[in-house]
Amino acid sequence: MLNLVLFGPPGAGKGTQAEFLIESFGLIHLSTGDILRNEIAAQTELGLQAKQFMDKGELVTDEVVIGMIKNKLTANSEAKGFIFDGFPRTVAQANALDEMLDENKTPISAMLCLEVEKQELINRLLNRGKTSGRSDDQDESIIENRISVYHEKTAPIKDYYAAQNKHFDIDGMGSVEEIAARLKETVKAL
Ligand code: AP5
Repeated sequence: MLNLVLFGPPGAGKGTQAEFLIESFGLIHLSTGDILRNEIAAQTELGLQAKQFMDKGELVTDEVVIGMIKNKLTANSEAKGFIFDGFPRTVAQANALDEMLDENKTPISAMLCLEVEKQELINRLLNRGKTSGRSDDQDESIIENRISVYHEKTAPIKDYYAAQNKHFDIDGMGSVEEIAARLKETVKAL
C-alpha cells in the first residue's frame, strides 16, 4: 500500500499535483480543505464552525479534522493507498494519523514537501482568488496569515517525518508538468 503525505505551504500546488499522483498510482485523494469546503457548502454544523477559522486563515481544531479523516479511512478500507493533502497540519494530527494507519498496518510511505518561494505562493493564491470564490484567497493579509500559520504550526511536522526517514523536499517552482515529473520520479524510487 502506498500512502503519501503531500505537504507544503498554501498555494504550493498540493491539490494540483495530487491529480497527477492519483492518475499515476491509483490512490484515493483525501483533502481536508476540500472536505471542509463541502461541509460549508452543505451548511452543516461542522461546516459553519469550520468557516469561522478558515475565513481568517486559522486552523480548524485537530479534533474535527482527525475525525473527518478517520471516517474517510473507514469508508475506503479497500483502497490501494491514499494521498493526504492538507493533512496532517500539526504534530498532534501527524501522531493521530500514524495511530490510525497502524491499526491497519499500512504506514505512511513518504512525505513529499513542495518548496515554493513566498511571493510565488501569494501570486498564485491572489490569482486564483479572482475566480475561485474562496474568501481566504482574496485578501493578501489573510494569505499572509495562512503562510505564517504554516511556518508556526505545520512546518515542524517535517522533523516528525524526517525522524522516520520519510521526508523528501521537492522543488515546487516551475511548470505544473515539471513538478509532476519530479514527484513521480521520487515516488517511483521509494
Ligand atoms: P486547504 O484547502 O488545505 O488550503 P491550503 O493549504 O491553504 O492550500 P491550497 O489549496 O490553497 O493550495 P495547494 O497547495 O493545494 O495549491 P493548489 O494546487 O490549490 O486549507 C484551507 C483551510 O482549511 C485552512 O486554512 C484551514 O483553515 C482549514 N484546514 C484544512 N486542512 C486542515 C487541517 N488538516 N487542520 C486544520 N485546518 C485545516 O494551487 C494553488 C493555485 O496555484 C491554483 O490556482 C493552481 O492552479 C496554481 N498553481 C499550482 N501549481 C502551479 C504552478 N506550478 N505554476 C503556477 N500556478 C500553479
